[in-house]
Amino acid sequence: MHWCSVDRLMMPVAEATLPITDRGLMFGDGVFETLRVTRGLLPHWHHHWQRLESGLRSLKFPATHLPEEDQLKHDCRELIKKNNCEDGLLRLAITRGSGSLGYLPTHTGKSRHLITMRALPIAPKSPISLMQSSYCRPPQPAFPAGVKALSSINLVLAKMEAHEHQCFDAIMLNSRGFVSECSSGNFFWIKDHIIHTPALTSDCLPGITRKLVIEAASQLKIPLHEGNYPIEHVHAADAAFYTNTGFGILPVKQLHKKCFTEHAIISSLSEYYLNLLI
Ligand SMILES: Cc1ncc(COP(=O)(O)O)c(C=O)c1O
Repeated sequence: MHWCSVDRLMMPVAEATLPITDRGLMFGDGVFETLRVTRGLLPHWHHHWQRLESGLRSLKFPATHLPEEDQLKHDCRELIKKNNCEDGLLRLAITRGSGSLGYLPTHTGKSRHLITMRALPIAPKSPISLMQSSYCRPPQPAFPAGVKALSSINLVLAKMEAHEHQCFDAIMLNSRGFVSECSSGNFFWIKDHIIHTPALTSDCLPGITRKLVIEAASQLKIPLHEGNYPIEHVHAADAAFYTNTGFGILPVKQLHKKCFTEHAIISSLSEYYLNLLI
């Protein structure tokens, strides 16, 4: 996708630049969202907006520097049109902007809005393999809960480790030793026709797809438990799946030597989820 938007100005990606003093660049000081574009529209915008706004508040962005929802949505829509995009992914990043060079953001400069787009990732043709990561998710006192922060090095390292082991992704535990999530998606497993997923208290990101799957399970009357689970609980499961905005729902075939089977519940949830996008 050729065009991006920097502070409400559309320009070719190749010509876009960022001041070297931007705090997003210097400290990962900001938040982002990855949204699905379907038929040129932004389904689930409201959920993404809520997570973005609450992230900015958690990072103590001054109220006067919070973006306006309507304006931001308008800018996203204009960029979708400019890129002639029917289906793809849109990344919306808000940084604290430029100003003070130390950790303390003493400046009163404006936050910076960056919007980029890309094609949908190609979904794996068969169920994915996962490993257990040697990295754990930071506990909530070390990191504000539920924020999709620009500073994602913990996740970058976990994803690199997974690829080094020829795995699609890695399951990360939290600092208390409970299952949290994968580096780029939430994680669910099924045992005896009951779906399980780590509770938000497990230090996982409150994924939008996770939320939609939980709603789908409720609509389809499939029991779903959220909790703090040891990895042994996953090893005893019948089936498992991974979720994120880019891929939707991906069945898992393997976690190290543990093999999972295909499951009718995953097919029903996938069908329900795809219908939400239409
Ligand atoms: C760490 C992490 N957890 C979960 C998710 C899934 O979130 P969503 O469903 O909102 O895409 C992502 C998405 O990239 C992620 O990076």
